[in-house]
Amino acid sequence: MKLWGGRFEQGPSEVFERFSGSLHFDRRMLEADIRGSQAFARALEGVGILTSSERAELVSAFHELAVESAGNNFFSGATDEDVHTLVIRKLGEKVGALAEKIHTGRSRNEQVSLDTRLWLRGEMDRALALVSGLMQALIDCAKRDPDAIVPGYTHLRRAQPVLWAHYLLAYFEMFARDHERLTQARARVNVLPLGSGALAGSGFPFDRDAIAKDLGFASTTFNSMDVSGDRDFALDFLYAASTTMLHLSRLAEDWILYSSEEFGWLELSDGVTSGSSLMPQKKNPDSLELIRGKFGRVFGDMNALFMTMKGLPMTYNRDMQEDKEPLFDAADQLCGSLEMAVAVVETAKLNPARPLQAAEESWTVATDLAEALARSGTPFHQAHKIAGRLVLESVRSGKKPSDWTLAELIRFAPEFTPACAAVLKPSEGMKTREIRGGTGPQHVAAALTDAENRLKTLRSV
Ligand code: ARG
Repeated sequence: MKLWGGRFEQGPSEVFERFSGSLHFDRRMLEADIRGSQAFARALEGVGILTSSERAELVSAFHELAVESAGNNFFSGATDEDVHTLVIRKLGEKVGALAEKIHTGRSRNEQVSLDTRLWLRGEMDRALALVSGLMQALIDCAKRDPDAIVPGYTHLRRAQPVLWAHYLLAYFEMFARDHERLTQARARVNVLPLGSGALAGSGFPFDRDAIAKDLGFASTTFNSMDVSGDRDFALDFLYAASTTMLHLSRLAEDWILYSSEEFGWLELSDGVTSGSSLMPQKKNPDSLELIRGKFGRVFGDMNALFMTMKGLPMTYNRDMQEDKEPLFDAADQLCGSLEMAVAVVETAKLNPARPLQAAEESWTVATDLAEALARSGTPFHQAHKIAGRLVLESVRSGKKPSDWTLAELIRFAPEFTPACAAVLKPSEGMKTREIRGGTGPQHVAAALTDAENRLKTLRSV
């Protein structure tokens, strides 16, 4: 069965059918297609194309199809061009000639936009819940070791001591932005395209606001030509998904390093690691490596759709059928990666002694020291030089910060004061950073509470 056979003297060639058919992937939108068509049947009643009993018959036949589609052989042997065609064919098998009315004043161009939006909205809700789950896992992780100190890095060189909780809250902020971005993208997805027809607007006076309400859309689109040629809503999702994957890949990279023997900070649980078929001692962070790897895939999906859309003439072009596979893949990989990341974060154990030792032995306190000198009147440029010379001397003689006494410091440079000696301990220097956004311990404790409250608000809307 075709939705367009009349003008043709011959059917499509086998190779064209095989090449152009999309049922094998767009069948994923079956549920959305049925839901949209039920609402459309109600709209057809509204414009007098269907009687109320015809509408009722169609709506319940659609419902039966939805139930049957859960069964094993719903799709078996189906050679329909796409999911929209399949649904109408199956509808015809149930209600006969009445099925021929369902496409009145509707084009597949708007239907595919509708289905994709309905499907994507559901996926985005799933992703949003997973992102907030991950944000919660990061907070819980921070609460397990609220006082732990780690070296913060720039250039992957030990830079300044920070609280482990401060580090984790940095990721909380990235995922909070991702949550916001996904929510904003969802708002652009959540707009009803139906009523646009193929490109020129439907020839039937549908109450578009009523259809929008019926399907839970917040608003309706403004221009039928725009609808027919638009996939911005999908690109918005792919961008939000890519950014989330970017952040996940960086967390994954950090934790692959931090759980290595070289760092020794983190122990990943057995449940999220795997062994080697040859080397019996190995415990590999495959879950994190896969998360890191999947960024490339999702970013590729985004690129694929951008490239597909570039330069397309107004309005719908069949090229646009190529939107679905990247979209489906990105949603799957995003949700899968988020789910995996939650499991890793929930079960990881910090060994606080190792990062503390790293922070203590490697002069991450040098900045605190220079600033303490500046606080007691030494111009900062001088202070920087003095602290730098102290580090150089210590590196030469193999001294750690804690090896220096106040008397020795003063002998090294008379500018040193007791306040300088105090910040040789990372936990002391950190107390000078009680500023909004800083790693000062009081601030971080407050930031943790604040993060929890923000997350609660996010989850309640
Ligand atoms: N399968 C098509 C797609 O996914 C549906 C729209 C087809 N419209 C058309 N005019 N051929 O884009």
